[in-house]
Amino acid sequence: MTQKRDQWGSKAGFILAAIGSAVGLGNIWRYPYVLYSNGGGAFLIPYFFAILTAGIPLMIMEYGLGHKFKGSPPLAFARANKRWEWLGWWPSINSFIILTYYTLILSWAINYLYFSITQAWGDDTNSFFFKDFLKMTDSPFKLGGFVWPVFSGITIIWLLNWFVCYKGVSGGIEKLNKILLPTLVVAMIIIVIRGVTLPGASLGLNKLFSPDWSKVLDPKVWIAAYGQVFFSLSLAMGIMITYSSYLPKKTDINNSAFMTAFANSGFEFLSAIGVFAILGYMASTQGVGVDKVASQGIGLAFIAFPKVFTVMGGIGKLFGVLFFICLVFAGITSSISLVEASSSALIDKTGAGRKKVVSLVCLVGYSISIVYSTGAGLYFLDIIDNFINSYGIVTVGLLEAITIGWLFGASKIREHTNAISYFSIGKWWNVMVKFITPLILTFMIISNIVNEII
Ligand code: PHE
Repeated sequence: MTQKRDQWGSKAGFILAAIGSAVGLGNIWRYPYVLYSNGGGAFLIPYFFAILTAGIPLMIMEYGLGHKFKGSPPLAFARANKRWEWLGWWPSINSFIILTYYTLILSWAINYLYFSITQAWGDDTNSFFFKDFLKMTDSPFKLGGFVWPVFSGITIIWLLNWFVCYKGVSGGIEKLNKILLPTLVVAMIIIVIRGVTLPGASLGLNKLFSPDWSKVLDPKVWIAAYGQVFFSLSLAMGIMITYSSYLPKKTDINNSAFMTAFANSGFEFLSAIGVFAILGYMASTQGVGVDKVASQGIGLAFIAFPKVFTVMGGIGKLFGVLFFICLVFAGITSSISLVEASSSALIDKTGAGRKKVVSLVCLVGYSISIVYSTGAGLYFLDIIDNFINSYGIVTVGLLEAITIGWLFGASKIREHTNAISYFSIGKWWNVMVKFITPLILTFMIISNIVNEII
């Protein structure tokens, strides 16, 4: 702990890195479908409500905490109160677990980036993905063979993770984000521009945005909105606490939280438009309704979209390459934030050097990833992802809000961020952090448990 703490080269570098973490696979393959299936245009009401009442307040809290106590979560919590260090380890562990399978998905995306050029997936993209590519077994208890292309992809991703974090905060993370993030936005804008001019695009966009007002009264839709906002803003994973701990003394925290959140939303809209324009085109070429082709996650990226790229002919190759570049770039800037959140906690705890710790974290993570490189990898991913999303993230969010909001005192964090920020946040923030966020998170945990039982 005697070493000097790493620092961002500039405030812009910090914000870019925070946006890089927030903008991830979820923005591209999750948000468009969440928007579509939860009332379209009408979803924007719960969505913005969730951003303003929980997303931004919690982000200000995490930024404030990291900055005030100059530490990754375990150190920051320990400095707030010695007895809270354990709470700080939770988000770092969450990060590490997510990391093991996030890198797996990135490995698929890298492979598909390559397949886009030859359109190796052929006509049956479904069986290509599960059988030919993943060599999926019929049970999680059968590991099956070792899948070399997946393993190679994982190796590339881990090497990159390692290299960037090894280089440090401004020399690695900041530099990478400065290159990848603008490239990502340009690639997505090209997809959107070409996408909306495809025949049938308007079908998809109409479906996406036409509001179903009845959904606004549905509690499930509100839970979906809050869930999306938490995951998308990379909250409760220790990332934002860690990143803000590298800021210089005088920084505009309040403004940074708003900027991160709105830039992330901007990218969510952009990808929603791109994805649904393409889905509209797909529906019209097949002569079916958009509801027949709308999908998300793995089904969208590795099955539905490759099929569309084939149908598009020559330009489909370009679309494919751009789309998978977007996935890879969006994902890498997020996976790096996960490596940093896990490593930084250990660096703070042991006082060991960054290079050693990052190498160790990456080596252990990489070794675990090997299990995912088998025919049973997808089963493990599903089980762990479900657990982390349903309980891991929300529980940590809840504990953070209660500990800081009630036990430590919300006002102390607010006074800290207000003192260094250009504009001050009012008492409403205390209400959000102390009442609204914990209430909603409790509700989410209960509803997840109920869903599990039913
Ligand atoms: N925010 C990222 C996304 O939207 C997901 C993520 C979560 C990334 C946690 C890193 C850590 O995809």
